[in-house]
This record gives sequence, C-alpha cells and structure tokens, in this order.
Amino acid sequence: MTSASTRGVVILGAASAMAEATARLYAAQGARLMLVGRNAERLGVLAADLSARGASAVEVEALDLAHPADARAQLADMARRIGGADDVLVFYGVLADQARAETDLAYARQTLQANFASAAEWCLAAADLLQAQGRGALVVVGSVAGDRGRQSNYVYGAAKAGLGVLVQGIAHRLALRGGGARAVLVKPGFVDTPMTAHLPKGGPLWAKPEAIAKVVRRAADRGGAVVYAPWFWRFILLIIRLVPEPVFHKSKL
Ligand SMILES: NC(=O)c1ccc[n+]([C@@H]2O[C@H](COP(=O)([O-])OP(=O)(O)OC[C@H]3O[C@@H](n4cnc5c(N)ncnc54)[C@H](OP(=O)(O)O)[C@@H]3O)[C@@H](O)[C@H]2O)c1
Repeated sequence: MTSASTRGVVILGAASAMAEATARLYAAQGARLMLVGRNAERLGVLAADLSARGASAVEVEALDLAHPADARAQLADMARRIGGADDVLVFYGVLADQARAETDLAYARQTLQANFASAAEWCLAAADLLQAQGRGALVVVGSVAGDRGRQSNYVYGAAKAGLGVLVQGIAHRLALRGGGARAVLVKPGFVDTPMTAHLPKGGPLWAKPEAIAKVVRRAADRGGAVVYAPWFWRFILLIIRLVPEPVFHKSKL
C-alpha cells in the first residue's frame, strides 16, 4: 500500500457532499487528488479548498460521468495526471423520482444509466487499472435502497442493487487475481446531503456526510467487501429483508 502522504485518489462525483467530506480527509493526509464531476466551476472551488487543506496536488476534470466515451482510457488518463491512482472512489448518483420513472420510461432509463450502467463501466475500468498495478482500492457508494425492492423507490433501488452485485463480483475477482487490490461497496442509509434536501430530517437514522466519509476512508484501507454506513443499517436491512412478503406488501415502505 502506498503511504497516505503520497496517495493518488480519483474521485468520480467529487462535488457530492459525501465526496467532498471524504476528499477533505485525504487532503489532510497530503494526498494527490483528481476531482471529476460535471460542474467545472464547483470543481475549481473544491480544488482550491482541498489544496489549502493540504492536498499535495489537485487536478480537475469536468465530465458527464453518466456517458463515458471510453472509461478505461479516460480513467487511465486521470490516474496519469496525478502521478498514478491508488484509490478510485465512485460517489456520483441521482435519486430517481419513482412516480415519474413508472410513467416515463426514457426517464427510468436515464436514471438507470446514471446510477448503474455508467457506474458499472467506471468500476470495470477501475478494476482493470487496480488489477494491473496489483494494489489500491475501488470504493463505490451504493445504497441500502438496493437491499430490497420497495414500491416507493425501486427504480433507484434496482440500479444500486445491480451496482452492488457488480462491485461484490469485482471484489471477488481482485481477491483472486488482483494482488493487493480490493473493491468495497459502501451502503449508506439516510444522509443529510443535497440529494435528500426535499426530505424531512432529524432523528437517529440520519447521518452527516462526514460520518460516511470516515467509513469510506477506512474502507479504502481495510475491511470486507460490503460495509453499511453507519454500521447499524446492516441490522435494519437484515430485518427488512426478513419481513415476510404478505406483511411487507401491506406496508407503504
Ligand atoms: N443522501 C443519501 O441519503 C444517500 C443514501 C444512500 C446512498 N446515497 C448515494 O450517495 C452518493 C452521493 O450522494 P450524496 O448524498 O452525496 O448527494 P449529492 O451531494 O447530491 O451528490 C450527488 C452528486 O452526483 C453528481 N452527479 C450526478 N449525475 C452526474 C453525472 N451524470 N455526471 C457527473 N456527476 C453527476 C452530482 O453532480 P451535480 O452537482 O452536477 O448534480 C452531485 O455532485 C450517490 O451515489 C447517492 O446515490 C445517498
């Protein structure tokens, strides 16, 4: 493993609240950062802030991540620009409007493309890169929404479930053929970010992005292939998965 002070990190979806909090942890350790997102102005502001916080190099790439032209070549170039990537972090995503996704199939396809199909391409590209160098971590933010299909959120949930299986498969592949490289799926529950700005907040189930960032940062260094964030969601979802279908189908979840 490369030491934290020389660590190169590619962050896909760097403008996300969770990504920003995670990037700050890396910056404080002097890491080299490649920030990728679709808002160039926002990336510039983030880059300045992260440099001030200790990042030894910060590059930015403005890109619509939902439509990679050639993810393998693009990721290799991003890594090259920061002198090599140890970690590749995937944060970007969109919360689907479930009611709209049920009537507007082009919209449903668009959300599946953003949350699953494109993310799968980036993850497969990252797996190749990490396997070839025999070290580093791919850490991907999924969601507890992918653990059981629910009428209120199943299009987004399906995308996150698909991504979760893909990352688990990559973790298995890297365990067998990746030298020291690893892949981890981090599954947050409710997090107070712009994505959930429309929801009422408060209560013990809501986490701040900084709490998820610590989990992501730790996951890049050690641990298993699937991590719930915070940890108690593992048990909540275990119960939700075990609720018998006749009971579950009477709920409005
Ligand atoms: N918040 C939660 O409760 C929660 C729970 C479980 C999982 N998650 C997952 O956590 C991850 C981070 O989300 P967050 O909560 O931190 O929300 P967020 O702050 O709204 O971040 C989402 C980010 O994804 C970016 N993005 C979306 N589509 C993109 C595209 N095509 N190309 C480039 N960037 C794109 C957005 O960019 P713009 O700013 O340009 O729109 C935004 O910066 C997401 O994958 C989300 O699904 C969130």
